[in-house]
Amino acid sequence: MQVRFTETVLRDGNQSLIATRMPIEDFEPILETMDSAGYYSIECWGGATFDACLRYLNEDPWERLRKIKAKVSNTKLQMLLRGQNLLGYKHYPDDAVRMFIRHAVENGIDIIRIFDALNDLRNVEVAVDETLKCGAIASGAISYTTSPVHTIEKYIELSKDFKNMGVQSITIKDMAGIMGPKEAYDLISAIKDSIDIPVVLHTHCTTGLAYMTAIKAVEAGADIIDTAISSFSGGTSQPATESVAYALEQMGYETGLDHEVLKKVNDYFKPLKEKYIRSGLLDPAVLATDSDALIYQIPGGMLSNLISQLKAQNAMDRLDEVLTETPKVRKDLGYPPLVTPTSQMVGVQAATNVLLGERYKSVGKEVKAYLRGEYGKAPGPVNEELKKKVLGDEEPISGRFADTLEPCFDKAKAEIGELAKNDEDVLSYIAFPQVAKTFFENRDKKPELEEVKAFYSIELL
Ligand code: CO
Repeated sequence: MQVRFTETVLRDGNQSLIATRMPIEDFEPILETMDSAGYYSIECWGGATFDACLRYLNEDPWERLRKIKAKVSNTKLQMLLRGQNLLGYKHYPDDAVRMFIRHAVENGIDIIRIFDALNDLRNVEVAVDETLKCGAIASGAISYTTSPVHTIEKYIELSKDFKNMGVQSITIKDMAGIMGPKEAYDLISAIKDSIDIPVVLHTHCTTGLAYMTAIKAVEAGADIIDTAISSFSGGTSQPATESVAYALEQMGYETGLDHEVLKKVNDYFKPLKEKYIRSGLLDPAVLATDSDALIYQIPGGMLSNLISQLKAQNAMDRLDEVLTETPKVRKDLGYPPLVTPTSQMVGVQAATNVLLGERYKSVGKEVKAYLRGEYGKAPGPVNEELKKKVLGDEEPISGRFADTLEPCFDKAKAEIGELAKNDEDVLSYIAFPQVAKTFFENRDKKPELEEVKAFYSIELL
C-alpha cells in the first residue's frame, strides 16, 4: 500500500496563513532540502502567488518559478490554475490561456491542477488540452461542495468527463474544509470503483475535519494527499505532513517520505512562522479550529468577509438574517460551489437583500454576469423568475463564454510595449494589467533596506 504527498507550504499554506506574502528570499535556502524529502510534488506556484508577487512583493512570478526550478530537480513542481480564468478573476481568451500554460511549463512547472468554480468543464478544456500538449501532467480538480444537485453520481460524471479529456489524475478540492471523513470515503471509493485513475485529496483544516478526512480518503484509495509542513499546517491551511505520514505509516502505508529531512524542513520554517506572527502577518486566529462553517455550510473566508462587510455598514445585528439568506441566494443561483468568485457574489447579494429589506431590489453586476452565463453553466436549475427580472428579454449565453472573446496576446504586447522585457511579462500584463504595469515601472529600482523593512513590517532574517 502506497500513498504519496504533495507539500503545500509554498503555495496554499503560504496563501491560507499569511495571505501569500512569503517572499522568495525567505524560502529559497530550504528548497534543495525539500527536494530530498520524498514528496510526490511541491505545490509552489499559481493560485494567489502570482498576483501577490507582482502586487505586494515586488517580485517577478516567472523569475520566482525559475529560481525554484534551479534548486528542485527531483521533485515535480505543481501549480493551481483556475481554468479559463488562469490566475485572475475573469475569463481570458484561448490564446492567452495557451500561451500562459506553455510558458509555465517552459519555466519549470510539471503538474497543473486545473479547476473551474462552477465545475463547468467547458472552462477547463483548453487549459487541459494545452497542458497535455506541452507534455506536463494535468490534474482535473473538482470544486467540492454539498447541495441537492452535488450527488456522488454527479461527481463521478465529472471525473469521467475529466478522464475523457486526458487528465492523469482527479483532485477532490475541498476549499472550505467541509468534507467529512465519511463523505470522503464514500466519494473516493465510488470514483475509484467507476474509473481507473489516481485520486488526490485537497482539503483544509478550517473546521477540524481534515485529519480524519485525509485518513479515510486514503483508506478509500486516494493515491496522493495534500499536506503542509507542520509549522505551516492546521487552521485554514492543510493538515501536517509529518503527522499524517506518521499515522499512515503506522497503518502500513509506504509514504516515501524521509522524516529526518522533514524535520530539517520544519526546523527551517519554524522561525519564519515566529517572525510572521511577530510582524502581524500571521494572525494566530487563523490557526484555530472554527466549526461554524459546518453549521452555515459556507467557507470560513466567506464568513469573515460577511462579518467585516456588515461591521462596515454598522449592521452586525443583521448577521443571522444574512446567514439565513445566504443559502437561499445560493439556491436561486443553482447551487454554485462557494469559492472565489462565486462566494463573494453570493455573500454580497445576500447582505444586499437583507439590508435593503427586499430580495433582489438591487442586483450586483457579478450576479447579472452569472445569470447571463459569463461564468459558465450553473450546477443546478436557476430561479427563473429572478433570471427574467434581471435579464428581461436578453438571451443568456448558451455556449462557452471564452468563445465570445477576441485573441488578446498581440494586442497586449503592442500595448505594453518596451515595459515588457519578454513574453512572460506580456502574460503578467494580460493577467493583471494595472498591477503588472506598476511592477514593471518599479522593478529596477532597488528599494532601500529600511523601506523593505517598513514594507513587510518585519525584521529581515
Ligand atoms: Co486550498
